[in-house]
Amino acid sequence: MIEKEQKAKLEAVAELIAGAKNVVVFTGAGISAESGIPDFRSPGGIWTKFDPDDFTIDKFIKSSATRRKQWELLLMGGIMTDALPNRAHLAIAELERMEKLDCVITQNIDSLHLKAGNTPTRVLEVHGHARTAHCLGCMEMFSMEEIIQKNKGIEDIPVCGRCGGILKPDVVFFGEALPEDVFQQAIYHSIHSDLFIVVGSSLVVHPASMLPQFANDGGARMVIINHAPTPCDAMADIVVHASAGESMACVIEGLRHFFPSAETKGG
Ligand code: APR
Repeated sequence: MIEKEQKAKLEAVAELIAGAKNVVVFTGAGISAESGIPDFRSPGGIWTKFDPDDFTIDKFIKSSATRRKQWELLLMGGIMTDALPNRAHLAIAELERMEKLDCVITQNIDSLHLKAGNTPTRVLEVHGHARTAHCLGCMEMFSMEEIIQKNKGIEDIPVCGRCGGILKPDVVFFGEALPEDVFQQAIYHSIHSDLFIVVGSSLVVHPASMLPQFANDGGARMVIINHAPTPCDAMADIVVHASAGESMACVIEGLRHFFPSAETKGG
């Protein structure tokens, strides 16, 4: 339940959005927790069940044992094709409909911003996505649906149906470069934003965690909506330590005063 003091802060966030010209929303795993996808660093999160040191591109290529673990993690962390967008994702899609969203930059690979209705060109997936995988041998591309169907939910480690090579999901592993064009766009939009809203990220993973600093250097106002404190809280104008879904629904509710047509969706 959103407390009175937080509600006042969220109304102030709505006011900032109403007055802003270039709103960038930056999301992390915390925004998808209410859709049933565990985050990484909360108590019980994915890194309490798997060892992050296993999830480097090196180990993915060199060891079939870690390859199996990585496919298992992806199943838990974002390939779940049945996960649905929650109120926070729907609120960000509503911001776009209200023409109050420049873009959403996400570290998530779960495609929930797209499922919520944001335009693909306005969703910058800086850690890639789990919709497809490529063969490292012949570069053939496969959809995750067909891989999961063919591998009966990934009991065996998926291999390329064309050449038998290693299939690598199109997500960014530790030690791997971020998609250059996407990250360059994310930097550009962060620097040119006048309001930068973080939702559900611990802001500890480089280089994505540099984006709030780019926005700050560019003179943007900053909002952080996150259960736990983050290293960027000190540079934010408004910090709300509350749930993403309830908070973002409250922000859209607050925008009704400025945009009567704003819809707040359940979820
Ligand atoms: N509402 C608001 N905040 C939440 C919620 C929620 N319902 N659930 C969790 N959080 C917060 C947690 O307190 C935490 O600070 O979301 C944050 C999620 O942080 P992480 O688990 O570290 O996820 P993220 O910041 O996206 O991690 C970045 O690290 O392991 C890599 O590639 C992985 O993209 C990921 C990157």
